[in-house]
Amino acid sequence: MRALNVILGLVLLCTHAAAFTDYLLKKCHQAGFCQRNRDYAKNIQLSHNSYYHIDELSVVVDNTTNTLHADIVKTVPREDIGDVVVRLPFTLAFQQDMLSVRFTIDEKPIEKFNNELLTPYRYNETANWSFANHSGVLDNAPLQWSTQEQQQESNALAWLSNIVFNADEEKVMELTTASSDLRVRLFLETCQINVYDGKELVLAINDRSLLNFEHHRTLEDNFQNMLPEESSYNMFADDFEYSSSDHIPFGPQSVALDFTFAGFNNLFGIPEHADSLRLRETLDEEPYRLFNVDVFQYNLNSRMPMYGAIPLLMSASKDRSVGVFWNNPADTWVDIHYEGSASQSHFMSETGVIDVVVFLGDKPADITDQFTHLTGRPTLPLMSAIGYHQCRWNYNDELDVLTVQENMDREDIPFDFIWLDLEYTDDRKYFTWRPDSFATPGKMLQKLAKYGRQLTVLIDPHLKFTYEASNKVKEHSAEIKNFMGKTYIGRCWPEDSIWIDTMGKIGRTVWDSLFKEFITEKLPSFVDNLQIWNDMNEPSIFNGPETTAPKDLIHDGGFEERAIHNVYGLTVHEATYDSMKQIYSKFDKRPFILSRAYFAGSQRTVAVWTGDNIANWDYLKMSIPMVLSSNIVGLPFNGADVAGFDGNPSPELIARWYQTGIWYPFFRGHAHIDSIRREPYLLEEPIKSNVRDSIRLRYALLPTLYSAFHQSSVDGSPIMKPMFFEYPEYSEFYDIDDQFYVGDYGIVVKPITSTETFSTEIVLAPGIYYDLQSLKSTTVDKLDTVTVDAPLDKIPAFIEGGHLLIKKEVYRRSSKLMINDPYTIVVAPTLSTGSASGKLYVDDGVTFEYESGNYLDVSFTFTNNSVLENTIIHEPSDSKTLGNMYIHKIVLATDGNNVDVGKNAKITVGSDVREVTVEFDEETSSAVIRDAQIRIDEPWRVEF
Ligand code: NOJ
Repeated sequence: MRALNVILGLVLLCTHAAAFTDYLLKKCHQAGFCQRNRDYAKNIQLSHNSYYHIDELSVVVDNTTNTLHADIVKTVPREDIGDVVVRLPFTLAFQQDMLSVRFTIDEKPIEKFNNELLTPYRYNETANWSFANHSGVLDNAPLQWSTQEQQQESNALAWLSNIVFNADEEKVMELTTASSDLRVRLFLETCQINVYDGKELVLAINDRSLLNFEHHRTLEDNFQNMLPEESSYNMFADDFEYSSSDHIPFGPQSVALDFTFAGFNNLFGIPEHADSLRLRETLDEEPYRLFNVDVFQYNLNSRMPMYGAIPLLMSASKDRSVGVFWNNPADTWVDIHYEGSASQSHFMSETGVIDVVVFLGDKPADITDQFTHLTGRPTLPLMSAIGYHQCRWNYNDELDVLTVQENMDREDIPFDFIWLDLEYTDDRKYFTWRPDSFATPGKMLQKLAKYGRQLTVLIDPHLKFTYEASNKVKEHSAEIKNFMGKTYIGRCWPEDSIWIDTMGKIGRTVWDSLFKEFITEKLPSFVDNLQIWNDMNEPSIFNGPETTAPKDLIHDGGFEERAIHNVYGLTVHEATYDSMKQIYSKFDKRPFILSRAYFAGSQRTVAVWTGDNIANWDYLKMSIPMVLSSNIVGLPFNGADVAGFDGNPSPELIARWYQTGIWYPFFRGHAHIDSIRREPYLLEEPIKSNVRDSIRLRYALLPTLYSAFHQSSVDGSPIMKPMFFEYPEYSEFYDIDDQFYVGDYGIVVKPITSTETFSTEIVLAPGIYYDLQSLKSTTVDKLDTVTVDAPLDKIPAFIEGGHLLIKKEVYRRSSKLMINDPYTIVVAPTLSTGSASGKLYVDDGVTFEYESGNYLDVSFTFTNNSVLENTIIHEPSDSKTLGNMYIHKIVLATDGNNVDVGKNAKITVGSDVREVTVEFDEETSSAVIRDAQIRIDEPWRVEF
């Protein structure tokens, strides 16, 4: 075993210098449960057998929790010894405030189980991490039988009268709630669940009979527990070369289920994958796999697993949308199949319970909204965190960091965050500073704080085997254990390491104490501009199977790694966030945390990125669908390393990557330790100026972007948004993932992602579009493809008529220094009615005061090509902390003849009426008021 570890370690270290060696990862046919479920799916569809039914006599409605309980009965036919009958507890409930239905299928705890290190029941606490309320208990709506008046008795037999026979003579129970059109039909004999919106069938669950619940059995009695359609492949052993030492103490435990999306011919979601936004057919191919792993130089156009997993699958049509949340953090594979006018999926997880929430809506955004209502709204970051982040593995010492700052400032390139990767630590021991090169971190932090800049440092969940921090963890027995209950030792950056077990309360408390010592005790003065990066938290283990933790490791509570794998990274970053939030409560400051691994719910606390990409055009192109996919499943704060982590990008690629990167919600330049330095100020002209202009455009748009982040923190809406989210009515948009909208602001972008490309084609819905930089207009009569020039200094980006943007146009070194700058409004009216609207959200960008009402929310409307007005939606409690309140410049984009310019405009504020000059700017064909002197927090009216 030791020898294998050494070989694997070498292989992994080598992979950190060459392309990803995907033979290290299982394919479906090498993963016991994936292959078994695919076999089962094939066989059951041929045999048409159904081994599962809902026991009608077990149906009970609990009126206190508004939950239906029943037993699903699995019958394994055995003529010799008599049928084996397994009862699987089933619950179903509709939720209040959402158009959703949740159901669970569990197994009773194992009665005779002689492993005292493990709990005898399946892991059923995922909701404690993924749901915003940190509990599996939801606010459910009262259930109603749609067949007759609800009966009050909770007597099992009373419900029998609610069983009806449908036209096919099947026994059916139908449930609904008073508050919505959502209806569910339970087919008792086949265990099929149909979900309807009114009369329309939207989702059929288990209609292909792929429900498979591998109930508990031992190797000895396995033969009597097997269904005829089941294969026994790798049930009690794993013959995959790199995980053959897995003990599989429970034997086979997988759960699987099929979902058919009726009337939908697309499926999206289930990131993270380096693949198209619309999920591809997987028939005869690899399914999409959700299993958090370290995939340096990951493959493109692939369904291989990556760093994060969000098991939300969604689909949309012009007036309807549906989402399926498979709340299971175990290794999971998803097959996708498009069949006529339906889309089919087959979820297969290695263990755990079936816990599914189905959401219905009219438009795609309804699914993201409800999903983030359930799993938590995305964090509202520091304003500075949506500025530019300058990172590299590594800045060598304090002087290096401060020189980068000086050079960025000298070259007038704004930035807000600078980062320290791994090598700032003393011998890769987290919670320490390397004494020779980072001797005075407090001073360095203070020098960065002058312009409001933040320093992010890397702290990973693996700790070098012996030193102060890991000793403390071991003293409290707060580390992950091996299958024998002893400290697990694996290899990562510091060689032999242990892993903090943040699944457990003790682990979180110890983790918290390490942060407190590091920040409040070890630094000479208590600073508020140190932020944290949790990397390698899949967890990445160099000598572990599939680059990660052995599945038979044991976590607090006696749960196997197998059962919780995809949620571990979330527990690490959430513990980090909670600790930092408490530490910074002294300053009432929002922490910033970047995490590489994630699960549903991560959006509440962190930003993420797309991991170790390569500096080439293909990865630039792929970054767009990857960030879009994350945005639609409620995790908008995502971005790819600009201009590619590994390798040395050409100057042209750098320019184009920055032009794309400014639209990622998380915008960070990062580079591998072996790559040539490429901070923007080091670039040759004209690339340096191109990059400077791109970053400055990001900064000019910060008020709008911050408003988009705020909107997202309210309803989960994407910041980088697919075309079909904006226009579900155009089927042409469902396959487009190389152009996108930005928030609800009508900015539509088609970045250039290939070399020597100086024009591009963008598909637009009917309307008028103003070039974002030149304001030159283009009219589109029907959905059409428009050719746009894109010389190297140009980003193909438009403002769609009907919208209005708020900018701050003066260059400053950082976002903090922009706080007192005036606003500019850019109005982009429609052609037909000459109208536009937009919103602005402003708070102090730093504290949590917005939670108690200290923020401004204001909307703007422009009508009849003439009148611009604002409406204050929410007034701040203390506007002094919100910075400048004045709008100086108003720019009205025109198509050249829709505004009668050359005269004065009238501005009315309360009883004060004044005239201001309107200039016509020939270059941009726009009418400009240069000195409007109106406040954003007071109502006014401008008449052109
Ligand atoms: C892996 C991360 O993905 C990468 O961004 C980082 O630079 C290295 N770890 C070193 O910490």
